[in-house]
Amino acid sequence: MALRNILDHNDPDSDVRLRKVSRPVTEFNERLWTLLDDMYETMIHDGVGLAAPQVGVLRRAVVIDVGDGKHELVNPKIVSQEGDQYGSEGCLSIPGEYGMVHRPQKVTIQAQDRYGKPFELTAEDFFAVACCHELDHLDGVLYIDKADRMLTPEELEEA
Ligand code: NI
Repeated sequence: MALRNILDHNDPDSDVRLRKVSRPVTEFNERLWTLLDDMYETMIHDGVGLAAPQVGVLRRAVVIDVGDGKHELVNPKIVSQEGDQYGSEGCLSIPGEYGMVHRPQKVTIQAQDRYGKPFELTAEDFFAVACCHELDHLDGVLYIDKADRMLTPEELEEA
């Protein structure tokens, strides 16, 4: 496993890549497994989720761990959602900033595992936020596009 470089939205060339729509994963091979392993190792100390485009790979794969273990979602799709929650979000591609975002309270997702096997997952509360945030990355969407305001430096100090 190896750490990968995370694209930073503040760098114009990186931002162009973060804004692209990722393509579906079609090959469930060693290359994908290495990518997923590297993504998890890259994100686990500082974040709760990472999408492949954040490490420069425009493929539809994300890893998430909100404290209950590793979730790998390949070619994920939200098939239903309900409720609303509102809270602060950050992103490893937007260092040092946080913004307030509305998200569904609960989402059901269909995805494939690293071997291509389909499964369905229901996520609630913060896990649902993480899923929505990471899936947005696959369509070139960042949370700052959806935030109704960013936290001020004073608020960040208090947090
Ligand atoms: Ni992010």
